[in-house]
Amino acid sequence: MVSKILIRFGDVEMNRLKNQVAIITGGSRGIGMAIAKKFANEGADILIADIMKEEAEAAARELSSMGSNAGSYQLDVRDVGEIYKMVAYCEKEFGKVDILVNNAGVQKPCPSMKLSEEDFDRIMDINIKGAFFCAQAAGRSMRKNGGGKIVNMSSGNSRMVNVGRAPYCISKTGINSMTAVLGAEWAMYNIRVNAIAPGWIQTEMTKRGIALKALDEKQVFAVSPVERWGTVEEIANLACYLASDESTYIVGQVIFCDGGWNTGMMPGALDYIRENDKPE
Ligand SMILES: NC(=O)c1ccc[n+]([C@@H]2O[C@H](COP(=O)([O-])OP(=O)(O)OC[C@H]3O[C@@H](n4cnc5c(N)ncnc54)[C@H](O)[C@@H]3O)[C@@H](O)[C@H]2O)c1
Repeated sequence: MVSKILIRFGDVEMNRLKNQVAIITGGSRGIGMAIAKKFANEGADILIADIMKEEAEAAARELSSMGSNAGSYQLDVRDVGEIYKMVAYCEKEFGKVDILVNNAGVQKPCPSMKLSEEDFDRIMDINIKGAFFCAQAAGRSMRKNGGGKIVNMSSGNSRMVNVGRAPYCISKTGINSMTAVLGAEWAMYNIRVNAIAPGWIQTEMTKRGIALKALDEKQVFAVSPVERWGTVEEIANLACYLASDESTYIVGQVIFCDGGWNTGMMPGALDYIRENDKPE
């Protein structure tokens, strides 16, 4: 355990998550790691729970070097017994669980006609079943402790479908439903459950899609009114808001953080505005 120091951002004390303990699944890299850094900057203690042992340890070391109290736990979210052990470990090492970010997720582009049962099950087991039981295990701990916050990671694909990603889209739509159900069911325990639906963020997940030619940057820009990728920090800022006491009246919601993709704008439609909306 490394002693905590007060992190400052300019002249402003960043303490929105002071005395909070957060578990972040899939927190070794990408969106999860950005959330871990943001939460650490806001004063939270962090447990990174990830299937990749060494990467999780490295992420925890990086957080510790920032002055955060951080640790790691190797977890495959498909193993419900291990999920419960991870939550027990968090209680033992950090004293409690205040926040769960249900971020671990996988995608594997494949035409639906060719999809195997094995791949279907793997994506569902990680993205949906794993997220549900992480919520259940952390939720039981939070209830004991008087409450908490759960932030699920959905996707823009829960509303805007993407061909060649059937189980991913189905699983993320399921996350939206799960968020509404648990949000309603657990508000009485002072556990707030919400979700973020990110748009197109440059991480290993999207880099892999590009490498497999299942995704193209031009497509991303054409459907995004902001005409760019989103950043992991933009997702982390929203996660922090949902995990903090600034969002106490938001329950069971899915917030789309996607540069306007889910407005459903036709690809390339902005060309008309560019041509016809010259400043007077
Ligand atoms: N990148 C995007 O554009 C985007 C868009 C919408 C939603 N998301 C969602 O955001 C989340 C994070 O995605 P990312 O882009 O950072 O991807 P990523 O592949 O960089 O990170 C995923 C993390 O989950 C971990 N993980 C995978 N399987 C696991 C398992 N069985 N148990 C525990 N951990 C496991 C990985 O080790 C990794 O650390 C995912 O749920 C993803 O679906 C991403």
